[in-house]
Formats: sequence, structure tokens, C-alpha cells
Amino acid sequence: MSGEGIGFGKTIIFNEHFVVYGIPAIVSAIGKYTIARIESLETNGWKIIDKRKATPTYKENKIEQQKDSINRIINKMNLDLSKKGVEITLEGNLFATSGIGASAASCVAIARAFSEHFNLNLSNNEINDIAYEGEKGYHGTPSGIDNTASTFGGLIWFEKKETNLMDKIDLMNPVEIVIGSTGKVADTAKAVEGVRERKEKNPEKYQEIFNRAENIAYLAKDAFQDEDYRELGKLMNENHKLLQQVEVSTRELDFLVKLARDQGAFGAKLTGGGLGGNIIALTPGRDLQDDVANAIEKEGFQTLKTMIGVRRSYE
Ligand code: MEV
Repeated sequence: MSGEGIGFGKTIIFNEHFVVYGIPAIVSAIGKYTIARIESLETNGWKIIDKRKATPTYKENKIEQQKDSINRIINKMNLDLSKKGVEITLEGNLFATSGIGASAASCVAIARAFSEHFNLNLSNNEINDIAYEGEKGYHGTPSGIDNTASTFGGLIWFEKKETNLMDKIDLMNPVEIVIGSTGKVADTAKAVEGVRERKEKNPEKYQEIFNRAENIAYLAKDAFQDEDYRELGKLMNENHKLLQQVEVSTRELDFLVKLARDQGAFGAKLTGGGLGGNIIALTPGRDLQDDVANAIEKEGFQTLKTMIGVRRSYE
């Protein structure tokens, strides 16, 4: 018997980090995904063959977190691998790097592949819950935004609550973006922990930042609905400033953000956990997308050209 499943990569367009504290955030799946395949073994337990293309050191750095994550998935699914084990193979066209949801995509893909392998017929909601448990292996205290985007696809308004709130944002026309990679592997758990420590030391400053972040999310939702990309770009720039204030940006991230804006991007910001990883630049139209991507690549950084607002429902 064998099973197969996919999980989308993602990019957070507004309010990473703030989302951990219940501030609304906007995230989009991207057109790249991880595929997991599961085959039975004659021996017990599990082993993994990770064939994903990755930033140098990404896989090595995450190996313990990956082990913890897979064990959590297996426990959450109550799978009995004590007699007949499984071999998990990861591949797909999503580059394994920080900031584009590589961990969430792998958790979703693995949960789906197990579901197929063991004929469990799980719903998207169930897959999402299992992937959330798997994400804890990587993030410690994830908000759930990454696994939600990775499971359901599309452009999503997300709020962490007792029961998380997820609303699809429907765009008339998908819009081009560029993702630029610093090439630096980052530890999301550490980034989240750093914000928490600084917030505890300076609650008033952080409350002000969170209030503005919340405001930005609502303005951004309107801007998306009006397809007002100039406004959206401005809001992304402002969001980046807030992320700088909570100290998750880096010299390389700021450099790439500035480069993208100088090249005509409507807005640019870091995306994901920060402290390395990626930026996202809003670049409506193919020509602008090419210009921004070329400028980033000329400086020796990798890019991904994709669209947000494409309906990528898994079903
Ligand atoms: C990481 O992709 C997003 C963070 O907001 C953490 C989380 O939401 O779990 C930094």
C-alpha cells in the first residue's frame, strides 16, 4: 500500500508575529508545494528520505525538529507503526527554505499521505489540525496560520482564536509578487520567543505596535477588495516598519526590501518569521515582476516569481 499528499507553500502578506497574539493576518498559498509519499516497510517505526531542494544547511539544521514533528503527527493520528513501519519520501517543487512555509507544507503533505496510506479519508479540517500538531515540532507555539494556508490554499484572512477564524479573500484578478531569499536559514521558534521576551519587557510599546498592525490588516482587506495595489503596497511598507520595531528584520532583509522598492515594487516587506528567510514584493504586471526579480538576482540572491489570489483549493 502507498499514500501520497501535497501541502502548499505560503507567504504572509500582513502581520506575521502579531498573529501569534490574536492580531488578524493575511496569508496566501503560493503555486509551489511539497509532496509526501508513504510506502510500507517490513520493519517497524518510520524513516524519511528528504529529496526536497533546499537552502544549504536548512535540512541539517531542522533534522531534530523534523523528527519531533513527524512523531507528533504519528501520535496525533494514533498510527500504530510497531509492527509494520513506513518510509516517508518528501519531494515537490517548493524549495525548503525559511519563510515560505516549508515546514507547514511538509506537515500537511505527510498528514494527507498518511490519510491515504491508511485509508482514513480525513477532511481538510482534520488534516489542518494534524498539521498544526506537526508544526509544534518546528515552531513551539505556532499560530496555525501556516498550516491553514498550506492545507486550504488561496488568499486567507486568519485570526488565532479558541477556534481559529479563517475567511477566504476572493480577488477578481490574481496579482504578481516576487519572493526574494536572503539564503539565510532562520529559526522561527527563536524569532517568536525573542518577540515574546521583548514584549514582556516593554508592554506599552508593543501594545501600540499591535494596535497599528490590527488597523493595517483591516485597511489591507479593503485594499484587496478594491484591488488598490498602491494602497496595499504602502500598507506592506508600513507593516515592514512594525516588524523592524519588534526586531525580527535583518540587514539582508532590509537590503532586499529597499532594492525591490527602488526597482518600482509597489511595496515590500519581510515575510514569515524573519531573522533571515525571505521578503515579499508586490509587483503588479509581468514586466515589473521581472524587473524586481532581475534586480534581486543581480545582487546574488534567489527569487521566486508567483501570484497571490489564485484559487488553489485542494479539492
Ligand atoms: C511564521 O511563518 C509565522 C509566525 O507568525 C509564527 C506563527 O504564526 O506561528 C512568525
